[in-house]
Amino acid sequence: MSRRILIPALAALLGLCLLALAALVALRPEPTKPVASVGGPFALTSHEGKPITEQDFAGAPFLVFFGFTHCPDVCPTKLFEMSEALRATGERGAALRALFVSVDPERDTPAILKDYVSNFDPRIVAATADQVRIDAMVRAYRAYYKRVPLKDGGYTIDHTAGVYLMDKQGRFLRLIDMNRRPEIVAQDLLAAL
Ligand code: NI
Repeated sequence: MSRRILIPALAALLGLCLLALAALVALRPEPTKPVASVGGPFALTSHEGKPITEQDFAGAPFLVFFGFTHCPDVCPTKLFEMSEALRATGERGAALRALFVSVDPERDTPAILKDYVSNFDPRIVAATADQVRIDAMVRAYRAYYKRVPLKDGGYTIDHTAGVYLMDKQGRFLRLIDMNRRPEIVAQDLLAAL
C-alpha cells in the first residue's frame, strides 16, 4: 500500500476508534457518588400494613417515588416505567426494590395501596404514614406536593415526579431519567448494585 493511501486510511481508522470510544463513554452508566443532602431515614407503613424503614431496603439499591393512587397519568406511567426497568434487569436485578410513597395518606390506606401496586412489578413496595411523617420524608428528599381543590369538592395533588436512585446503604445517588428504554434504565440500576 502506498503512503498516499496508508496515511488517510490510518487517519480514518483512528477517527473511527475515537468515535467508538466517545460512544462507549456516552453509553456508560453515570458515576455513582452518594449525595448526603438528599434522603435519609424514614418510618412508614407498607401496603401490607407493616412498619417499613430505610433499614428494610439496606443491602441493595432501590428507587423512591412520591405520588398518589388517584393520580390520573403521571404516577401510573412512572410506576409502569419503573416496572419495565426492573423487569429488564433480569435475574441480576432480583434484589432491587422500589418504594412508592403516597402523598395522599387521607385516601391511600395500606389496603388501597396494596390493590394499586398489584398492577406493577412485585419489587415495588407502596407506603403511607401520617401527614407529619410523609411531610418529613418529602422535605428530606427535597420533593414537593400540594393539594389542589377540584370543582366537585374533591381534590387532586400536584407533585414532583422525580425517581430517586438510592444506593445499597440507602444514600441518594441521583434522579433517574425514566424517559429512556427500559433496558437502558436497567443498566443504571444494575451499575448501582
Ligand atoms: Ni402522580
